[in-house]
Parts: sequence; structure tokens; C-alpha cells
Amino acid sequence: MESFIGWVGGKRQLRKEILSHFPADGVGRYIEVFGGAGWVLFAKEQVAGQMEVFNDLNSDLANLFRCVKYHCEALQAELDWLLHSRELFFDYVGQLEAPGLTDLQRAARFLYLVKHSFGSSAKTFATDAKSGEHLRQYMPKIQDRLKKVVVEKQDFEPLIKTYDRSDALFYLDPPYVGAEHYYSVQFGEADHRRLASVLKGIKGRFILSYGDVPLVRELYGWCNIYDTNRLNNLAGTPSNKTFPEVIIKNF
Ligand SMILES: C[S@@+](CC[C@H](N)C(=O)[O-])C[C@H]1O[C@@H](n2cnc3c(N)ncnc32)[C@H](O)[C@@H]1O
Repeated sequence: MESFIGWVGGKRQLRKEILSHFPADGVGRYIEVFGGAGWVLFAKEQVAGQMEVFNDLNSDLANLFRCVKYHCEALQAELDWLLHSRELFFDYVGQLEAPGLTDLQRAARFLYLVKHSFGSSAKTFATDAKSGEHLRQYMPKIQDRLKKVVVEKQDFEPLIKTYDRSDALFYLDPPYVGAEHYYSVQFGEADHRRLASVLKGIKGRFILSYGDVPLVRELYGWCNIYDTNRLNNLAGTPSNKTFPEVIIKNF
């Protein structure tokens, strides 16, 4: 199935290729470390008895996934209260930055902003916003898919250490080198290096997607690296350009 939202750097285009790298068996737990919109998680088949984890350090994202999972109907009702206009879009941006909203109010505003913004950035108002009817019908399916998925909001390092064991498969899609500023969570060169050093020590297997840049080649020289590319989907950059990417594996 497809995700219910777009996300900057979301793996909508690459999800099938990434899935083709999954091991055929022996995965007791699947952990999506940099969850975003969860395009790979939603494209992946559910496997009986396999634990699944969705994680993102962005608290609005983790809250949204939790509200869809536990309070789908109430979230839809909350969405119905939100009016659609350019002026209110920026009111909602301001409300998200202030304290005082309930989890459901926060989730509804965040979902509204992601749905009605250019490139799903939640920052710029998109005039060609689609009807909410499709989302209304689709959200219960997402709720059902998330029923057994553990939703976490942690930095990648403690998360990986918590779930690592020999039958774990981690899928990691960190902010790309040079594109870190698209996300509200800070990520810098020290974090790229920290990620490589954590992954070097794990017992489980991992699949990692990244832009193809020298730092990534330097950090993952000890892994299997597969070349691929992606059509640009970042707001504010030419849309017909392709970017070289890599899929990196420790198996
Ligand atoms: C490239 S996006 C993931 C896109 C996702 N694969 C999809 O298909 O939508 C990277 C995500 O990493 C999250 N992130 C940034 N720093 C993080 C950290 N230290 N630990 C966990 N998640 C982090 C960001 O909030 C962002 O949602």
C-alpha cells in the first residue's frame, strides 16, 4: 500500500527497488529508523510474527502516526474542524510552534499542513490542494496497517541499540548530505559519522539509502554499495533533474 502523506526525501519512487534488496527470510524484526512518511514500511508486506517499528525524531510526525494508529476517527473529526484558506494555513503553522494544543489538535494541524503544502514541506501553501475525501477513506486502512507497528520517537543511536539483534533488519533513510536543512530536526556531519560508527557495530542487517557523495563512499567503504538514481522531488529545485543515489548493505 501507499503512505497517506508525502514527505521531503520520501521514498515513494525508490520503494520497490529498496524492497528488492530485502532478504527473503530470517527477519524477526523490521525497524524503519528514519521513518518520515514510511513509504517503505507501507510498501512492505506484513509478515506473521514479525515485529515492526516506525521511528522518527520529528515529534509532530511521531504524534501523527500515533494518533492515526490509536485515534483515527477522532483525528478525522478534528480535521473536519479545520477550514481551508491561505490565511489559516499560516495560523496553523504558528499554532504548531506554540504549546497548548492537545495531541489530536496538533496531529490534525500537522497533517493539514503537510497535505496542503508545496513538496509536503508544511511551510508553503499549495493552491492545488486535493479534496480530503480520499484521505478520509484511506486513513482507516493506514490505521489497520499500523495496528501492530510500534511507533517510536527517538534519536537513531539509542533506537538501533534497543532493537538490535541478529535477526533484525534496519532500513535507514537519513537526511542526505547537503539536504539536512529541509528537516526541522538538526542533522550534521557529526551525525552522519555517528550513524556509520553505530552501524559498524550492530549484530543485525541493514539497508541504507543515501545520496551518492564522497562522504558517504568514505564512511561505507566496508559495505556493499549499489548505484541507483532518483528524479528530484525536493521543493525549490528543478523537477526534471535526476540525482545519483546509493543503496548500502552490510550483507
Ligand atoms: C529522508 S527522511 C525519511 C523519509 C522516509 N524514508 C519516507 O519514505 O518518507 C529523513 C527523516 O529522518 C528524521 N530524522 C532526522 N534526524 C533524526 C535522528 N537523529 N534520529 C531519527 N530520525 C531523524 C527526519 O525527521 C526525517 O523525517
